[in-house]
Amino acid sequence: MSDLKIGFIGAGGNAKGHMARVAAIEGVAIAAVCDVDGGRAELAAAEHGARAYADHTEMLNAEALDALYISVPPCAHTNAEMEAAGRGIHLFVEKPVHLSMDAALGICEAIDEAGIITCVGYQLRYLDPTQRLKRWLSGKTIGMVTTTRWGGLPGTPWWRVMEQSGGQLVEQTTHQIDLMRYFAGEVVEVSARYALRTMADVEGFDIPDSQALWMRFASGALGTCTTSCMALEGGGKGDLDILLKSRRVGWGADRVTSSPEVPELAGPYAETPNIDQVFIDAIRAGDQKRILSSYLDGVKTLDITLAANRSAERDGEPMPTRLGKA
Ligand SMILES: NC(=O)c1ccc[n+]([C@@H]2O[C@H](COP(=O)([O-])OP(=O)(O)OC[C@H]3O[C@@H](n4cnc5c(N)ncnc54)[C@H](O)[C@@H]3O)[C@@H](O)[C@H]2O)c1
Repeated sequence: MSDLKIGFIGAGGNAKGHMARVAAIEGVAIAAVCDVDGGRAELAAAEHGARAYADHTEMLNAEALDALYISVPPCAHTNAEMEAAGRGIHLFVEKPVHLSMDAALGICEAIDEAGIITCVGYQLRYLDPTQRLKRWLSGKTIGMVTTTRWGGLPGTPWWRVMEQSGGQLVEQTTHQIDLMRYFAGEVVEVSARYALRTMADVEGFDIPDSQALWMRFASGALGTCTTSCMALEGGGKGDLDILLKSRRVGWGADRVTSSPEVPELAGPYAETPNIDQVFIDAIRAGDQKRILSSYLDGVKTLDITLAANRSAERDGEPMPTRLGKA
């Protein structure tokens, strides 16, 4: 069996983790790395015996890639996904998949036409606590879901600029919104209020540091989310709680709590499959179903967070999502 040839667009902090895991998979070779910062591309390429590029079209024209990772700042998604799909190259795209719903929906069409395998980096879906809770919730009526993600300030400069990252909800808390969808189904309407309360003095910072939203799911369930990056010296938290008749369950990355207790949700938990291995295995098997978050899933999650941004711009006016459907 010949090696699967993998390319990368973006050679920053997150891509490096994927590169290390991909390089460890037998029968897979990192063939090419592209970054607009040519020095970064050169360094990563040298580490993996790959060729370096500063222009992704040049890379796609020169290399016969089987799969492509795209791990760039949210504002930096250009035509690479379309170009890759047009060439039949399988795609791993990091969340958030875009900042434009129109562009992301166009990419969905190109992906459908190409019939390629796609994966988005919502790795929390693969955790055993997530899988157990998902199975247990099947067929049950959820009343409400609430999530909190309070954390600190990531170091990448683009993260602090609304036009570049979309803000914390779009860029980071997308993981929690994605889990809400995974557990409770699609969201049809969102209302949000944002504020900049304590971090206006941070250099190069123009995103809200306080974001609060409510959601209505297609099932009729209700959801809330608060997120903030002002926990600069620790003390943050990331919770997701679900309320059903006579039962509350709490999702965590390492456990599910329940009250009253549900024995099948308690540990010990199985090891988490490596998302890069899952992606490569799915390509080899030609089986999209092995992947728990496709590109379209990434777009549905993006839809909710962008609807929240629109609502916040209009003083909390409720906004329908484009893909939720009642
Ligand atoms: N799934 C996860 O848990 C997870 C974790 C961290 C980051 N991410 C995502 O990964 C992406 C990258 O984050 P990061 O922390 O690595 O950022 P980073 O700033 O460290 O790296 C981004 C890289 O992309 C390069 N780049 C920008 N525009 C480009 C273009 N048009 N073509 C090629 N390269 C370009 C930059 O030069 C930089 O090297 C973001 O979407 C982020 O949300 C996901």
